[in-house]
Amino acid sequence: MKKDFILILDFGSQYSHLIARRIRDIGVYTLLSHYNEISISHIISKKPKGLILSGGPFSVYEKNSPLISKNIFKLNIPIFGICYGMQLISFLFGGKIKKSNSKEYGKSYLIIDHTNNNLFHGIPGKSIVWMSHFDEVQNLPKEFKVIGHTSSCDIAAFSHINKKIYAVQFHPEVKNTEYGISMLKNFVFHICKCSSNWVLNDFVQKTIDDIKKRVNKKKVVLGFSGGVDSFVTAYIIHKAIGDSLNCIFIDTGLLLKTEKEKVSFLCKKMNFSLKIIDARNRFLSKLTGVIDPEIKRKVIGEEFILIFQKESEKIKNVEFLAQGTIYSDVIESSVISKNLISSSIKSHHNVGGLPKTLMKLKLIEPLKELFKDEVRKIGEKLGLPKEILYRHPFPGPGLGIRILGEVNEKKISILRKAENILLQELKNYDIYDSVSQAFIVLLPVKSVGIKGDKRTYEYAAILRVTNTEDFMTATFSHLSYDFLEKVSNRITNEVNGINRIAYDITSKPPSTIEWE
Ligand code: XMP
Repeated sequence: MKKDFILILDFGSQYSHLIARRIRDIGVYTLLSHYNEISISHIISKKPKGLILSGGPFSVYEKNSPLISKNIFKLNIPIFGICYGMQLISFLFGGKIKKSNSKEYGKSYLIIDHTNNNLFHGIPGKSIVWMSHFDEVQNLPKEFKVIGHTSSCDIAAFSHINKKIYAVQFHPEVKNTEYGISMLKNFVFHICKCSSNWVLNDFVQKTIDDIKKRVNKKKVVLGFSGGVDSFVTAYIIHKAIGDSLNCIFIDTGLLLKTEKEKVSFLCKKMNFSLKIIDARNRFLSKLTGVIDPEIKRKVIGEEFILIFQKESEKIKNVEFLAQGTIYSDVIESSVISKNLISSSIKSHHNVGGLPKTLMKLKLIEPLKELFKDEVRKIGEKLGLPKEILYRHPFPGPGLGIRILGEVNEKKISILRKAENILLQELKNYDIYDSVSQAFIVLLPVKSVGIKGDKRTYEYAAILRVTNTEDFMTATFSHLSYDFLEKVSNRITNEVNGINRIAYDITSKPPSTIEWE
């Protein structure tokens, strides 16, 4: 199934996973490996058809900068360096790197100097590329030639004179690079000679067969959240082993309005055996007096695990724990554990690791190799309702991290009503599917207002709507004033407790999507 594949060596760029996604989109399987997690002999044994060296936030001259062995160039496997990957190739061949005169960030025009170069096959002589770098190649080693430049970067692309080694300073994986996909296709198909072999249909059938064989007559327990990943996971496992799958849904009391009912309706429809645990009071009492966002996340995460653990122990013959882990979770937890980013920004409780007792169970993670869009494609092929597959994500700690400051029952009820109105209007205006995530944040701040001639002193709330491809970077959604006015009017009129709404117009970074 995975005959031809491309191996990406990750040097810590925020875009590395995008390279993998783009290549899978064009039908070729890819794997992403932390640059020092894989040795040269390991690479040889895996037999990739091509190697991509990703970008990264480092300078090759920095102490402890991430380097690889020069022997990689002796493998005779085609190599494509992107941004830091380009600087690294040049550095390892003895070239010089310099700080750019002007930090280049954003849109630039690439002028191709060698139109017959394989990397640029079919690409116009001038096109838009996306730059994001501080350093650049100053002197090329003698074995290389420049194949493209921009107005502020003389060496924006180069290739080896007789080996299949190519590099670009810009980011072909980012959508803003006009012909980025064409360049990746040229590398993968023309240069590496890969055949298009990544077919999701095969993946589903093979996964179902594997699970059937592995689980045999034992039982599997799954923490069911109702989100896309857990739904598709449950569906695939259920197809493999039927009622030996036990789904547990914990009602934390921090869910959206009617969420529990929706989940239980859908599970019934799909014939999953679902146990709903009402833990609303437990979470509420644990959260009393907790204000700090990180402590809040930890309290919710720990409580969740404790309850889940207790419930799974009640099921006889359980040998497997299923999780809806997807490939970006794997990358994210690996990046955090490898300290590629100096500190984790928020403790996401689904990548926080498992307690010892649950670790005794064997893991089943059928979606571990897939990106979100691939999970959705699979869901579509399996005939799952679009309403589930295209739901906006909802964070594990739920409304707990959308109520800033202390969480209590009254605030949960206020926020739930406001979120429900937002959801209705997103659907009324037909906006739901064109934005990535939309929600309300309740501030711990009250302001003076006027409702029906009476003075009010109620909470201020924030409307947060974002567009993003991968949730690692995001922009605020450019919505019509008409929609904003409607949502604001309805919430302030219909929800007792909120008398002011502001729209969050920050991107991620520097903000994050959630406020806590
Ligand atoms: P941030 O706020 O980090 O959010 O920009 C990025 C995406 O992750 C979601 N999110 C979470 N999802 N458990 C989850 O399952 C969590 O603890 C968690 N925290 C944030 C957030 O809603 C957004 O989609």
